[in-house]
Amino acid sequence: MYNFQYKNPVKVIFGKDTIASISKEIPAGSRVLITYGGGSIFKNGVYDQVKKALSEFTFFEFGGIEPNPRYHTMMKAVEIVKNEKIDFLLAVGGGSVVDGTKFVAAATHFEGNAWDICQKGAPIKSAIPMGVVLTLSATGTEMNPFSVVSNDETNEKLSFGSPYIYPKFSILDPCVLKTLPKSQLANGVIDTFVHVMEQYLTFPNKAEIQDRWAEGVMLTLIEYGYDYVFKEFDYDVAANTMWAATMALNGQLALGVPTDWATHVIGHELTVLYGLDHAQSLAVILPGMMEVMRKEKHEKLIRFAKNIWNLFEEDEELLIDQAIIKTEEFFKSLETKTRLSEYGISENAIDDVLNKLKKRGEINLGEQKALTEDRLKSLLEMRF
Ligand code: NZQ
Ligand code: ZN
Repeated sequence: MYNFQYKNPVKVIFGKDTIASISKEIPAGSRVLITYGGGSIFKNGVYDQVKKALSEFTFFEFGGIEPNPRYHTMMKAVEIVKNEKIDFLLAVGGGSVVDGTKFVAAATHFEGNAWDICQKGAPIKSAIPMGVVLTLSATGTEMNPFSVVSNDETNEKLSFGSPYIYPKFSILDPCVLKTLPKSQLANGVIDTFVHVMEQYLTFPNKAEIQDRWAEGVMLTLIEYGYDYVFKEFDYDVAANTMWAATMALNGQLALGVPTDWATHVIGHELTVLYGLDHAQSLAVILPGMMEVMRKEKHEKLIRFAKNIWNLFEEDEELLIDQAIIKTEEFFKSLETKTRLSEYGISENAIDDVLNKLKKRGEINLGEQKALTEDRLKSLLEMRF
């Protein structure tokens, strides 16, 4: 196991009827900006709960944050923050609203072109404090220091990270997930599963606790995922799935182990180029990643096959084949497509994605930098 340091300062407030507690978490006298997306919070009662909880505060609102939040939209929020002297941001929504708000938190204090934060990794020295009321469970952003922002002008979807953008608190009330459409519930399960895989499916590093945590999250998703997406709302199913998503990307699974993240890097290009939802892009790429990296990931693939899918083939290559099939079947069982052709994407995508990654120097990805251009090409070819 590698050396590590771990500190996660996010206060998680989990459970039924917890939205009211935001009034105790935001410093008294704060001027608050509530940020939200396309309006789901007005239909499901979340906005009303937030407004009630903020009755003692002066607050402003900024709506219209798109799925895959856009830089130009978020810069409009930065203007409001500056003009209204906002000193606390409250993101009410899914990963896009939270990520967009993290960007606003950092960009408001940033001098110069704020896109440099994403594009050039420009250092962040401070940020406006923020809190979260999460309405879609998937990304883990509620308990991590990362954000992903898209820029229409440059056709980029890029992530950045800074300890300054950890939320001060995150409210996770599983009841708010009731109004999510099935496709978004499935997205949540798949994004979470792939987050775990990016940190687990590398090479063994004798980090047994982290591996067992990762397996615990994946087994929970397999046990509850179908019911979560297709059956009538059940509080405990929602609660376990929601907590799985937070646990998958709050830093714990990555402690002392190598991590991959190539599936995400490639997936982001599919979102930018063809508009696939984030999780949809991952469901297409991950099975191909397992296939083309089967030599480097051999030992972990065997462990994954046995511990996650209960497979017992003597022939190890056959075992891996079956584990890849099982994984793709899991995504399909959630009614999520796993092939580019199913999205009507033509084979031009192979060059388009490769060129974009090459331009940014994102070749030789993965925990061993072994995803070379040739392998990347084969990966994309096999996903039609
Ligand atoms: O915009 P509104 O009207 O709120 O509707 C949203 C949106 O259309 C809707 N929704 C959210 N909560 C709802 C609801 N509809 C009904 N009832 C509710 N309770 O769901 C739609 C999708 O929302 P979005 O926030 O885009 O989804 P998600 O949470 O999956 O976030 C995706 C974004 O997060 C990034 C992705 O790349 C993508 O941009 N990620 C962020 C990460 C991080 N910060 O650590 C890691 C992830 O790997 C990921 O990259
Ligand atoms: Zn993700």
